[in-house]
Amino acid sequence: MGIINFGSMNLDHVYSMPHFVQPGETLQSSSYHIYAGGKGLNQSVAAARAGASVIHAGVIGAGGEMLLSLLKDNHVDISSIASPGVPQGHAVIQVSESGENCIILYPGSNHAITRSYVDDVLASQSAPEFVMLQNETSEVPYIIDAAFRRGFSVVFNASPFDASLLQIDLSKVAWLLINEIEGACLTGRSGPEEILAVLCERYPETGVVLTLGKEGSLCAKDGRILHQGIFPVDAVDTTAAGDTFTGYFVASLDAGMSLEEALRRASAASAIAVTRPGAAPSVPVAQEVSAFLSERS
Ligand code: RIB
Repeated sequence: MGIINFGSMNLDHVYSMPHFVQPGETLQSSSYHIYAGGKGLNQSVAAARAGASVIHAGVIGAGGEMLLSLLKDNHVDISSIASPGVPQGHAVIQVSESGENCIILYPGSNHAITRSYVDDVLASQSAPEFVMLQNETSEVPYIIDAAFRRGFSVVFNASPFDASLLQIDLSKVAWLLINEIEGACLTGRSGPEEILAVLCERYPETGVVLTLGKEGSLCAKDGRILHQGIFPVDAVDTTAAGDTFTGYFVASLDAGMSLEEALRRASAASAIAVTRPGAAPSVPVAQEVSAFLSERS
């Protein structure tokens, strides 16, 4: 059926560091690259590379041409993207020798999404089943309400977390994808089982995927709880691992796969992504994921 993704697009300025810079410290990086990124763009690319039909909705800023080209090259429909003449959103990312990252975000164009833009995009699309979003754009609660009202299945990756998310009515969300830290902030609880229990009690209709780093992920839906482990690999850069997981998970559901298949495919895709540098460029295509899984079955 397809996916509309109201998502951020960032130019990622990525610095390879011996360790993350400490307060008061000045540290040289060993390399610097600009990659296409933004949780929204990464998830659109992941869903499209997984085989879904994806419409990306959002605002591109001045200097963001390479982001549009990358989406287009990956067969993402960019015809709904607006360009009102605002500065491009970007991220400054440190990647440590162990492949971990820390990120500064400048929202720029990603905060130029307006309610009338959201209404126009949703009114012009009836075929897609899923509306996907993350927490890097403006008007997140409005997008959830408007998409729910129009009968779309809303997939919300509540990342990065901030206090505004506590005001959102998550019962309008069909699928909530969060990590353990975000889950703890949303529920005030700690530990995966407790977090899931609270979310399932509060939002019984909402499917929840809780990603747990090296412990894999837990998925709660309709009273069932599924666990998906990770595929161990040597990580060089974990940026966009979660985005790859989300894009593959939604695309797999959109293709009619079972929850078990969707989780396994998403886990395999994110394992491949962490073995490569950069955000969007690290996302594997569907054939790579299938080959990776066949080698491990
Ligand atoms: O999830 C990774 C992404 O977070 C990066 O591409 C960066 O742009 C930030 O949005």
